[in-house]
Amino acid sequence: MTDSKNAEISSDVSEALSSSEQQVKIAKSEKPPKGSIIMSGMRTTGRLHIGNYFGALKNWIELQNDYVGYYGCMDWHAMTTSYKSAKDVTADARDMYAEVLAFGLDPVKNVLFIQSQVPEHLELFSLFMMITPMGWAERVPTWKDAEADAKANDTHNIGRFTYPILQAADIAVYEASHVPIGHDQIAHLELSREVVRRFNHLYGGKLPEPKPVFTETPTLLGTDGRKMSKSYGNTFFLLQEEDELTKTLRATPTDPARVKRTDPGEPTKCPVYAFHKLFSPASDLPWVENGCRTAGIGCGDCKKKLGENINGLMAKPREKKKELLQSPDTLDSIIADGCQKARLKARETLDHVRSWTGFKSGPN
Ligand code: TRP
Ligand code: SF4
Repeated sequence: MTDSKNAEISSDVSEALSSSEQQVKIAKSEKPPKGSIIMSGMRTTGRLHIGNYFGALKNWIELQNDYVGYYGCMDWHAMTTSYKSAKDVTADARDMYAEVLAFGLDPVKNVLFIQSQVPEHLELFSLFMMITPMGWAERVPTWKDAEADAKANDTHNIGRFTYPILQAADIAVYEASHVPIGHDQIAHLELSREVVRRFNHLYGGKLPEPKPVFTETPTLLGTDGRKMSKSYGNTFFLLQEEDELTKTLRATPTDPARVKRTDPGEPTKCPVYAFHKLFSPASDLPWVENGCRTAGIGCGDCKKKLGENINGLMAKPREKKKELLQSPDTLDSIIADGCQKARLKARETLDHVRSWTGFKSGPN
């Protein structure tokens, strides 16, 4: 894969998507200083959905022109809940890797890895577990929120409890100073900072306390009109095929006031309009707004236009993904390369960690 080809896809899709979002405020936190190491990851739970894109990948693609980023497909994190289907987790990691490449995350400018192929994460995770008091992990709000669900779904396991400690290790193993995350990850990053601070204090270490890089992501409505959430099964996969997309859109509810074609509607009460704001060019929005409010257009027309716009944006990444999956050797070698680079850095960090703590380094 050539650099320029990837960059081309990246600018096409991400520019089109950001220019279409004029209503969405992008509140960026302080820009990381030049030379900062950036790290982030996504749980590998299947194909990329809108939340993955607007909450993570889009920001990584924007950052790649200025910083070296370590970005991971986090399959150990996926295993905390999907341990019964380990084979799917492995396949999902590869699929996600292909999708991030297809959207233009550059494997040359960044280090792209699959978490389970960099075992150093787990060594640092073990050490971090020794120094993290139980109370810190118990206080993480995502754990409190998830506990009932975990009990009901046979995922009330120690791995899920220690999820944020593994996340702290993910970041520290690359000595990353900045982590692009969504607001839902604040508590996890706070714990990472505390664990790193305690580590440095105990052993005289010099691991950086990671800072968040926020981008305000829009509150996304799901395809059923409720808040978008993986657990509601109402997410929206980006690289679905055209006919799949048509089906998804057909099933998406609209403003209930529009019972008959002649009934006017209110776009702000409609998930289809919310998707238009994300995917359609700004010049299409007045057509939707006026057409909806005056019953000048039908919901079918409105969905058709949205489908065309999404298909237009996704055509290149869709094709790129297909190309990657059709040449598995190329994909495998990009993955192997990325994981190799990640390991080199992680090994170096662990050498420091071992020298601070007094453990001898092993033969590799
Ligand atoms: N918990 C993150 C999520 O669900 C994924 C993740 C795992 C992560 N390790 C990380 C994010 C390290 C940032 C840094 O989205
Ligand atoms: Fe929603 Fe569009 Fe129908 Fe209005 S016209 S209710 S915005 S689908």
